[in-house]
Amino acid sequence: MNPVPASSPTAPQAAALAPMPTALSDAANLAQRIAKAELHIHIEGSLEPELIFALAQRNGVALAYPSVEALRAAYAFTDLQSFLDIYYAGASVLLHEADFFDMAWAYFLRAQADNVVHAELFFDPQTHTARGVPMGTVINGLKRACDQAQAQLGISSHLILCFLRHLSEDDALATLEAALPYRAHLVGVGLDSSEVGHPPSKFANVFARSRALGLRVVAHAGEEGPPDYIWQALDVLKAERIDHGVRCLEDAALVKRLAAERVPLTVCPLSNLKLCVVPDLTQHPMKRLLDAGLCATVNSDDPAYFGGYMNANFVQTVQALNLGREDVITLARNSIEASFVCAEHRVALLEKLEQSIQ
Ligand code: ADE
Ligand code: ZN
Repeated sequence: MNPVPASSPTAPQAAALAPMPTALSDAANLAQRIAKAELHIHIEGSLEPELIFALAQRNGVALAYPSVEALRAAYAFTDLQSFLDIYYAGASVLLHEADFFDMAWAYFLRAQADNVVHAELFFDPQTHTARGVPMGTVINGLKRACDQAQAQLGISSHLILCFLRHLSEDDALATLEAALPYRAHLVGVGLDSSEVGHPPSKFANVFARSRALGLRVVAHAGEEGPPDYIWQALDVLKAERIDHGVRCLEDAALVKRLAAERVPLTVCPLSNLKLCVVPDLTQHPMKRLLDAGLCATVNSDDPAYFGGYMNANFVQTVQALNLGREDVITLARNSIEASFVCAEHRVALLEKLEQSIQ
């Protein structure tokens, strides 16, 4: 039977308007059920508009938007800064330990639905301490959610304190000192916020001090910034993982080094799309990164703002780039190998991954 053309006067309206459903590939289905680790999630970026409004009401905080719908409608970003402005405004509803707990717990429930078995959560303490929220309120709330995620959901997790690179290194050093009473709750430090104009070298001292404290080191580099920022993250900060790093492909010598040293890249496809780092997911460099032998991983970055959590990132990338089952397994295995878990726990996570492939 010939299909009714959409322009036919007899075509039902709904059929004419409905998008053609795209069947998921075998690899995309595997991507959903495979056990995986998430290594690049800003927990403040998991604040859904509904929770922002609920916390604003609970805490008596005024918002610049009249409704959830109006807030969500403002999520049309042109670059990293246009997103960060709205992301920091959203975080202003977080005042009490229970707020940080509720935010992280909501994330863990989403993570469980996507078969995330281990998560390493970034948080931005300066966003909160600058508003008078004590460091302990932030870390204790997050840590309580991490403990509950382990106990009730079987998801292990770590906390990574990120320094805001648009602020001074002195501010970062003071933040590190303020976090020292909670050192046992932290696995490492990171560097985030406005990249261009704030090179990693600006933070050489605070990262040296962090390393001396035994903290692991990651840094955002090569998201919007040039490959030189990735070199600096490696050579000056001694970063063990590069967050984003997609612009490494502009520098063949850098790709060679990242591959030879097996430096993981925590790539965030939907973030790259929403922040206009790529025009379309079919243009995303994930396949090229894998083909170059790099230890790339899939992550959600700020899922409440970019349209999806882990499985949305996996599925849409797999579909857009026509990735296969082996690519999916490699990406999931990379995420566990690149995590900061101890050797024994890594074996257990890899075992979960193997079982989830069946
Ligand atoms: N903070 C939250 N999301 C970020 C991103 N994608 N890049 C830099 N800083 C961030
Ligand atoms: Zn990020």
